[in-house]
Amino acid sequence: MGEYFQTIRLISPPFYGRLRGVMIKILLPLILFMANLQATQTQVVILLGPPGAGKGSAATLLKDKMELAHISTGDLLRQNIKNGTQLGEKAKSYMDAGDLVPDELIFSMLFERVDAPDCEKGYLLDGFPRTIEQAETLQKRLAGRAQVKAVSLEVPDSALVERITKRQVCRDCQTPYHLTFSPPKTKGKCDRCPGELYQRSDDTETVVKSRLKIYHEKTAPLIDYYREQKALQTVDASLPPNEVLSQITALLTPVVKDKVGAGDVH
Ligand code: AP5
Repeated sequence: MGEYFQTIRLISPPFYGRLRGVMIKILLPLILFMANLQATQTQVVILLGPPGAGKGSAATLLKDKMELAHISTGDLLRQNIKNGTQLGEKAKSYMDAGDLVPDELIFSMLFERVDAPDCEKGYLLDGFPRTIEQAETLQKRLAGRAQVKAVSLEVPDSALVERITKRQVCRDCQTPYHLTFSPPKTKGKCDRCPGELYQRSDDTETVVKSRLKIYHEKTAPLIDYYREQKALQTVDASLPPNEVLSQITALLTPVVKDKVGAGDVH
């Protein structure tokens, strides 16, 4: 390429000058614009909401329909506990008490996960960030290279205790069920995989109340944080699961590939 330019320069210096001008004025900004566009195409969707709002339920249904990886910090922590890792051992007492797990444990676990190849196009975060500090750390890490959308699932506290204390979760694929609102087809068995259902150790009434208190103190301020950044959308998550899912799907189009089938809802 350089040789051609040198030849043009020798044959016709005025033409070379004009060509160089065009390159600098038009092509260079175009190349920079395209590079920037490419970089901002990474999508990060954040599901915000109190315990039991339906973040995991929505993410389970959306993950097959999206080109985004689903990352639940709660599921990652429970996986570590199940595998008996050091991280799991450290996190367990905080989780059983309904407290937040310290940031240094969360950041290393999460940022290792988002570096995986399936997160290249983007990811859907469920359970992170949970504090303004976590949101700021995420923002610094993304450094303007991603489009961030926060979807707040709004449900009154009065509905949440019943949702959580009657929840059962698949040990293998983490699909959540509800003994009244969305029971499995066969008692104790997951509809989606051969996994068994169990009740999480933090799903007792006492721990739920403490999780809700922490949510209001530390996590709810994120709603204003993302609203100020014009990145917030809200969903009425007190409606039946199908309707909640339709609202989220509409907000996330075109990130969501297909329409979600009503029969898929748990
Ligand atoms: P995590 O696992 O993230 O729990 P959570 O945020 O408290 O949320 P849940 O999983 O309880 O609820 P959900 O909104 O997913 O509801 P679901 O869809 O299951 O975190 C657990 C712990 O890990 C934390 O307490 C903390 O210790 C630690 N942790 C995690 N992330 C952390 C972080 N970033 N920093 C520090 N610590 C962290 O639905 C609930 C039930 O309701 C189900 O039974 C479902 O079937 C039913 N349901 C769902 N939608 C509907 C509906 N529309 N109508 C009726 N029922 C419904």
